[in-house]
Amino acid sequence: MSPTMLSTHLVSDEQLDAQARPPLEAATLPTECYWSPEIYRAEVERIFHHYWLCVGRAEDVPQPGDYLTMDLVGEPIIVVRDGDGEVRVHLNVCRHRGCKVAEGNGKAKTFRCPYHGWMYGLNGELRGVPDFKETRNFKKRDYPLAPIKAELWDGFIMVNFDADAAPFAEQVSNMQLFGLEKYRMSEQLTTHRWEWDLGCNWKVYVENYIEEYHVPWVHPETFQAVTPMKGWREFPELPQGQPWDVMIGQFPGVSLSDTGEAMFPVTPETAELPPEHQGMPIWMSYPGFGVINAVDSSLYYLLHPTGPERFTLRVGLMLPAETARAYADGDPEVTAACEQYARNVPTFMAEDNQVTELQQAGLRSRFATQGRYCKHEGLAWSFNKWVVDTAYRPSGLNVNGGNGRALR
Ligand code: FES
Ligand SMILES: [Fe+2]
Repeated sequence: MSPTMLSTHLVSDEQLDAQARPPLEAATLPTECYWSPEIYRAEVERIFHHYWLCVGRAEDVPQPGDYLTMDLVGEPIIVVRDGDGEVRVHLNVCRHRGCKVAEGNGKAKTFRCPYHGWMYGLNGELRGVPDFKETRNFKKRDYPLAPIKAELWDGFIMVNFDADAAPFAEQVSNMQLFGLEKYRMSEQLTTHRWEWDLGCNWKVYVENYIEEYHVPWVHPETFQAVTPMKGWREFPELPQGQPWDVMIGQFPGVSLSDTGEAMFPVTPETAELPPEHQGMPIWMSYPGFGVINAVDSSLYYLLHPTGPERFTLRVGLMLPAETARAYADGDPEVTAACEQYARNVPTFMAEDNQVTELQQAGLRSRFATQGRYCKHEGLAWSFNKWVVDTAYRPSGLNVNGGNGRALR
């Protein structure tokens, strides 16, 4: 029997081998990979349960007791800042009989399960258990909310369902070749947030995010007008197989406003970057955490799949902290400039959202077949190959960017 996990069902080794050829000779992924529930399950198990996922910004839970809840790839979680000021992530599942203990967002001193009143501290420990005195061999300390590995990276809250995962910084260590720290994301604050429930497979959206081929067609009046397709550079000389990719729009000084003009204080260190790294980096840490950096702002993308053909897209616009504070205070000049950024983002997002749903509708055809890549789709190819090696071919498992750890 062939070694490909999925080959007995939907996808053959030959189809995956065709994808593994050099990009300009390769075929795209088999179309079943974009809708099959079985393939999606393999991706959840082998990718989403082992790689770092971003759930938002530390500023989303600024004070002790601030919390938010979400379903992260089917798992209910609570993100909370505990009494010591640490951001923690718990499974939102009561250890009594499994009820969710919190809903929505808010501020809490404790979490009390609505079903039978078990009470948990912000750090997850079980504190109160009504009428359990007679229950034998029961110790509260054995029943905390299940902790989920979490850490902060440049102000982002990163989560990993694999308790043994290496730190996120290791997953993206080579990405630092691009000097991303010079964009000072840890000092930026989110001024605008958007959320969409999109009817397409998560990979469709990642591919769209990291290829510039569609720019003249999908964004003729937005991206193409300011950062045209021909100015984007990929870096195929980098080692392959890492769980992230980056391309750079070589337009020094460009920003996310509708004219491309930077209207807020420019981060000075960005001028120290080598010329080929200056401009607008668009990067994606797989499976679904992407950022577009500009000299005075950043735009982050969080992709949270909810099924084989659906995902929640959470997007945030970040500006320098002082600008964000002036905006919050209603400074009229800053507000007018912020709106130029905030107007531009949903305009080009709507263009991507529409075309990726159209693509999904086509991929869903039982008669759809594998396509091809051009020179502007090198990162879509390397991303697809990473998915194949990580989720579809057990022999190719390679967690956390080639440091030799295998999935257990
Ligand atoms: S399920 Fe939570 S207290 Fe019973
Ligand atoms: Fe796009």
